[in-house]
Amino acid sequence: MVLATFLFTRRAQVAFRQTRSRIGALVGDMAENLSSMRVIQAFAQEGATQERFEQINRENRDTHVAAMSLSFVFLPTVEFLGMLATGIVLWFGGTFVVEGAISLGVVVAFLAYVTRFFEPIQELSQLYTTMQAAMAGGERVLEVLDTQPEIVDRPDATEMAPISGHIELDRVSFTYRGDVEVLHDVSLAIAPGQTVALVGPTGAGKTSIANLIARFYDVTQGAVRIDGLDVRDVRQRSLRGQMGLVPQDPFLFPGTIADNIAFGRPDAPREAIEEAAALARIDDFIGRLPSGYDTEISEGGVNLSMGQRQLICIARAALADPRILILDEATASVDTVTEGHIQEAIDRLLAGRTAVVIAHRLSTVRNADLICAVQDGRIIEQGRHEELLAIGGLYRELYEKQFMER
Ligand SMILES: Nc1ncnc2c1ncn2[C@@H]1O[C@H](COP(=O)(O)OP(=O)(O)OP(=O)(O)O)[C@@H](O)[C@H]1O
Ligand SMILES: [Mg+2]
Repeated sequence: MVLATFLFTRRAQVAFRQTRSRIGALVGDMAENLSSMRVIQAFAQEGATQERFEQINRENRDTHVAAMSLSFVFLPTVEFLGMLATGIVLWFGGTFVVEGAISLGVVVAFLAYVTRFFEPIQELSQLYTTMQAAMAGGERVLEVLDTQPEIVDRPDATEMAPISGHIELDRVSFTYRGDVEVLHDVSLAIAPGQTVALVGPTGAGKTSIANLIARFYDVTQGAVRIDGLDVRDVRQRSLRGQMGLVPQDPFLFPGTIADNIAFGRPDAPREAIEEAAALARIDDFIGRLPSGYDTEISEGGVNLSMGQRQLICIARAALADPRILILDEATASVDTVTEGHIQEAIDRLLAGRTAVVIAHRLSTVRNADLICAVQDGRIIEQGRHEELLAIGGLYRELYEKQFMER
C-alpha cells in the first residue's frame, strides 16, 4: 500500500497540475474569444477560432480523464488490498482452525480487525486524491499571491509633501525587462504649471516617458525627480495621489457614470461630480440620459462612444484635482465637434497644473510651453512651437505631415 501510494502521489501531482493549467488555458481562451468577438467576426475567423477552442477543450478533457484514471486505479487498488487481506486471514486462519492451532473465534475477530483497519484507510485514500487535486489548485493560487511587485517602496521611503509640480528627468535611460533600451539619456525639466507636449512617431518612447514620471517602472539609469525628490525615495501612494492620468485608452469601470467620475475621490459629493462633468463638457450628454449620473456603464464602457469615454476620463482627472497631470491623448477619431469639446476640456483641465501631454492635437501642441520631439528613445528637439518650426527638423516634418492637412 505504501508503494501504491508513493507511485500514485508522484503521478497524481503531475496530472493534477496539468489539469489546472489546461483549465487556465481554456478559460483564458474563452475570455479572449468573447472580448475579441467583433474582430473574429470581421475577419471571418469563427471556424478557426472554434477549432482552436476545441483543441484546447480536448486537451482539457484528456488531462482530466488521465488524472481521473489515476484516481480510479488507485482507489480500487486500495480496496483490492483490503480484500486481499481478508482473503489471507481466511486462508491462514482457516488452515490454523482445521489444524486446531487457534479457535474459530480468533479468526472471526481478525476478520473484524481487517475490516476495521481498512475502512479508514479507504476513506483516507479517497480524501487523499481530493487533496492532491486541491493542492495542484492551491499551488497556482499561491504562485499568484507570492508574486512580488517590481516597484516597491523602500523601507526608508518618505511621505511626499504636497508638491508644487516640478518634474525633472536627469539623464534617464530605460529598458523594459532586460530587453533593448527604449530611452537613451533623456533629460527634461518642467517647471510647475507648465504644459509640455511630447510628440513623435509611433514607438518613439512617449508613453514610456510618461510611465517613468508616474513611476510605473523604475529607470535603468539616471533619475526622475519631482520637486527635487527622486521618485524612488518617496512612497508611491503619496506620489500618485498627487498625479492624474488620462490614459490613451480610456478605461471605464462597470458601475454608474458618477462612480466612474468619482473613482479617484469616492467620497466626492454629487455637486463636485457635476462640476467635473461640466468642466469636461460631458454634463449635457449625461443630463439627457434617462438615469443621468446613475446610468450604468457596461463592461469596458461599450454603451458609450469613444469620445464620451474620454470625456468621462477627463472629468475623473479633473475631480481628482492633481498637481501633475499626464495625458496620453487618444488618436481615436472623434468628430470635429467632439474634438473641439475634448480640446476645450483639456485646456481647462491643464490650467494651473504641471502637465505632460502626449499630443496629437494641433492646438494642444501649439499652446504648450515646451514641445519635445521624441524619436528612437531620445528627445531630439526641445522648444516652443515657432522655434521648432524654424529649426526645420523632426517637429516641422511631423507638423507638416500630420497637422497641416487639418
Ligand atoms: N511593456 C513593454 N515591454 C517591452 N517593451 C515595450 C513595452 N512598452 C513599450 N515597449 C517598447 O518601447 C518602445 C517605446 O514604446 P512607447 O509605448 O513608449 O511608444 P510611444 O512613443 O508611446 O508610441 P505611440 O505613439 O504608438 O503610443 C517601443 O519600441 C515598444 O516596443
Ligand atoms: Mg504611446
